[in-house]
Amino acid sequence: MQEIDWKNLPFGYADTDYNVRCYYRNGSWGKIEVSSSNNINIHMAATCLHYGQEGFEGLKAYTGKDGKVRIFRCEENALRMQKTAERVLMAAPPVELFREMVHKVVQLNARFIPPYGHGATLYIRPLLIGTSPEVGVKPSEEYLLIMFVVPVGPYFKEGFKPVDMMICRDFDRAAPQGTGTVKVGGNYAASLQSLAIAKKAGFSSTIYLDAKEKKYIDECGPANFFGIKNKTYITPQSESILPSITNKSLQQLAEHLGYKVEKRPVPFEELAEFEEVAECGTAAVITPIRKIVDPIANKTFTYGDPETPGPVCTELYNVYTAIQFGETEDIFGWTEVVDV
Ligand code: PLP
Ligand code: COI
Repeated sequence: MQEIDWKNLPFGYADTDYNVRCYYRNGSWGKIEVSSSNNINIHMAATCLHYGQEGFEGLKAYTGKDGKVRIFRCEENALRMQKTAERVLMAAPPVELFREMVHKVVQLNARFIPPYGHGATLYIRPLLIGTSPEVGVKPSEEYLLIMFVVPVGPYFKEGFKPVDMMICRDFDRAAPQGTGTVKVGGNYAASLQSLAIAKKAGFSSTIYLDAKEKKYIDECGPANFFGIKNKTYITPQSESILPSITNKSLQQLAEHLGYKVEKRPVPFEELAEFEEVAECGTAAVITPIRKIVDPIANKTFTYGDPETPGPVCTELYNVYTAIQFGETEDIFGWTEVVDV
C-alpha cells in the first residue's frame, strides 16, 4: 500500500477504496450501494451528457485534535443540492439520504482521512446526474447520486497566503436568473476560458463582475468574495453567485467576533477602499488576496503586506479552522462527528 504524503497533498483527484451510489428509479430513491469501481456505466444519450442535467457539491471531513472525525454543515450542502436539483428539474435527494451517504463514504475510506496537524482534509464530492436516454430537451426520468472522496491539501498551492486575482470582463460565468445560484457543472465550464487566460497571465484565479451591468463584484471562479473595511465584513449580494456555506458561516463568525456584517451589492470602485479582501469556500477556505488587476479598465488594487494575510482574515481563519479541526468549542453547532 502506497504511503500518502499528508503534508504535500495537492487539491486533485486520486483513487480511494470505495464510493457510494444511490439510484432514483420509478419515482423513488433506492438503497445505498457501495462500489469499488471508479467508473460508471451510463447510456450515451443520458441527459447529463447532452443537456447538462447535473449538479454537484463539495464538503470536507476533518480529523480533529482529539482524533475525532468531523464533517462541516452537511445539511447545508444537502439543501443546496436540492436547490440545484430543482433548478434543472432533477430528482432532489432527501437530506437524510445525503447525510447517510456522506457518513458512509467517509467511514468506508477511513484510511484516506488525513491525520490531524497537516492542514489536509478529506474532500467529499457528491454528484447528481440525469441518466435516462433522451434526444429531445427534457428532464431525465432516472437519476444517480454518487459520492466519492479524495484527500486534499489547499486549493491554491499557496495555502493561507495572499494570491493575485484578475478581473474578468470578457466572459461571464453566470447571468442573473441563470444558474449562478446553484452548483451545476455548466457554470464551471463557462468559467474555464477566463480561468485559463488568468492563469496564463500569472494569476491564481478570476473575479467576475455582475453580468448585467459589469458594475458590481460578483464572485471568484470557485469561491465567494469578501472585503474588510472599518471593522465591517462586506460581501456581495447578487442574483448570479453561489450561496457559499463558508461565507454564510464567516458572516456569523464575524458578527460573533464583533464585526459588522454587510451583504449588499459591492461596486467595483469599492475595491479601492478595502483594507483586506479575500475569497472563501470549502476548497479555498479563506484565501487572502493581495492584488487585483483589471487589465481592461487598466486598474490595479493592492492590499496590505504582499506576503502576510491581514489581521482580520487571520483572525477569521484561525477561529474558523479551529472549529473545523475540533481545537475550540463549536458554539454554532456546525460540525458533526462521523464514527470511523
Ligand atoms: N462559489 C462557487 C462558484 C463555488 O464553486 C464554491 C464552492 O463550492 C463557492 C462559491 C463556495 O461555496 P462553499 O463555501 O459552500 O464551498
Ligand atoms: C468547493 O469549494 O467545494 C468547490 O466546489 C470549489 C471547486 C473545486 C469547484
